[in-house]
Amino acid sequence: MADLPRVVVGLTGASGMPYALDLLQALQGLAEVHLVLSQGAKRVLWEEMGLSPKDLYPLARWVYKDGDLGAPIASGSFPTRGMVVVPCSASTLAKIALGLADTLLTRAAYVHLKERRPLILVPREAPLPLPTLKAMVQAAEAGAVILPASPGFYHRPKEISDLLGFVTQRILDHLGLKAQRAPRWGEG
Ligand SMILES: Cc1cc2nc3c(=O)[nH]c(=O)nc-3n(C[C@H](O)[C@H](O)[C@H](O)COP(=O)(O)O)c2cc1C
Repeated sequence: MADLPRVVVGLTGASGMPYALDLLQALQGLAEVHLVLSQGAKRVLWEEMGLSPKDLYPLARWVYKDGDLGAPIASGSFPTRGMVVVPCSASTLAKIALGLADTLLTRAAYVHLKERRPLILVPREAPLPLPTLKAMVQAAEAGAVILPASPGFYHRPKEISDLLGFVTQRILDHLGLKAQRAPRWGEG
């Protein structure tokens, strides 16, 4: 565990919890996962998957409370490979874009921007209203990668797992983690 890169994973109250679960499973053995769930995430995790935060404990090295602003991931001196917010709600995306850091999740995102480390935001919302589009531009200008939960179909998915894998693969690529979760175009 000690030699694995640390990855912060933040879950927020957007639809798309299966993407979060797929990423957490893919990170097993690849990264030391530091997990934080917003209040909204707990509700949607239950609605979409019938799971509570405790069910995710086996998938993370550390699970923090969102109010714990003294946690290691709140500090730039705590080295990480990067952070993923998946799924990323419109509300959290707007807060990150503005530099608001009043929860551990948003503070950790802020820290990743300030330290110029990968910050990958995975929104699911559709359609997108102007405030969210503007927040996406602002977050991208600050250095975040906006990676919508929007799988392609050119790998001819047959199961939901194939769709999840497409998005997970792109996230892993942006974290610089070498793993094959989905087929790549041109690598039949
Ligand atoms: C079942 C359910 C699904 C939701 N889906 C979304 C969504 O896809 N995108 C979104 O931005 N908010 C969605 N919301 C609303 C957010 O949970 C809400 O705005 C919340 O305040 C977000 O807070 P957080 O970003 O701190 O998690 C959903 C709420 C529920 C209960």
